[in-house]
Amino acid sequence: MKIYIDGKLYPKEEAKISVYDHGLLYGDGVFEGIRVYRKGIFKLDEHLQRLYDSAKFIQLEIPMSFEEMRKTLIDVVRINLEEEDMEDAYIRLLVTRGVGDLGIDPRKCPKASVIIIVDKIQLYPKEFYENGLKVIISSWRRPPVFVLNPRVKSLNYLNNIMAKIEANEAGAQEAIMLDINGHVSECTADNVFIVKDNVLMTPPPFVGILEGITRNTVMDLAKEIGMKVEERILDLKDIFTADEMFLTGTAAEIVPVVEVAGRKIGTGKPGPWTKKLLETFRANIDRFLTPVYQEEKARA
Ligand SMILES: Cc1ncc(COP(=O)(O)O)c(C=O)c1O
Repeated sequence: MKIYIDGKLYPKEEAKISVYDHGLLYGDGVFEGIRVYRKGIFKLDEHLQRLYDSAKFIQLEIPMSFEEMRKTLIDVVRINLEEEDMEDAYIRLLVTRGVGDLGIDPRKCPKASVIIIVDKIQLYPKEFYENGLKVIISSWRRPPVFVLNPRVKSLNYLNNIMAKIEANEAGAQEAIMLDINGHVSECTADNVFIVKDNVLMTPPPFVGILEGITRNTVMDLAKEIGMKVEERILDLKDIFTADEMFLTGTAAEIVPVVEVAGRKIGTGKPGPWTKKLLETFRANIDRFLTPVYQEEKARA
């Protein structure tokens, strides 16, 4: 495995950054988690755009252009797939504020650092897809957009981690996080969907969610198969009375939820729309892949 840090590739054991990096000291940076299927990168441009938007929001200048980043990422993925003899992988792309001093002032960090890790993908166990997840409602609220905007995928994940600890302690797999008004926002690393009377519903970005790439893909595919899709405010009444519920995320794709805070959702089994959407998602993945061997293919 070769890890990219600021223009160089290092073996995993030697891939290290400074203890003065503000990504470590303050969670000051942005990141993406991206999936590779069959030697193709899923929704590459959407992920890169979200990264560049997150960086712009926190006033972090990424020290390479979008096109350079795109090319570098494809190269690093190709090198790692070859070295590890893999077809599928998980990419973690980070941009930190870089090395500064022990104060928080980002003006002391002259250059951002770019890190690309390509590793094996950790999949949810099959039984979660067959039997569904148990989820709690976290006592930790998602920060409002004027505090720490959840639409920005920053390195500051403590809010999510606290909720994950709460889920772990309750023996649940995930935690629904509400916003300060008690509206449903998202889970610790996944977006929330419900189905009610054949309508697919998910909270809008202004509630304070990460606008998931998988979320957007699922909404598009649902429309393509004729479902009505609504982005709307959801409260716990909507959750408790939903016919079906599922979560979406890069690693999870679409994973059913059958229990929330000890209460059965729908029949207590993964619902027909959830299954249909997962099938549709998997059947359409190829449409959204950027092959890592595109130049060779184009020449052939
Ligand atoms: C807080 C949060 N919400 C939602 C998601 C799902 O987003 P995506 O589908 O882009 O992976 C993630 C993914 O990392 C996340 O961290």
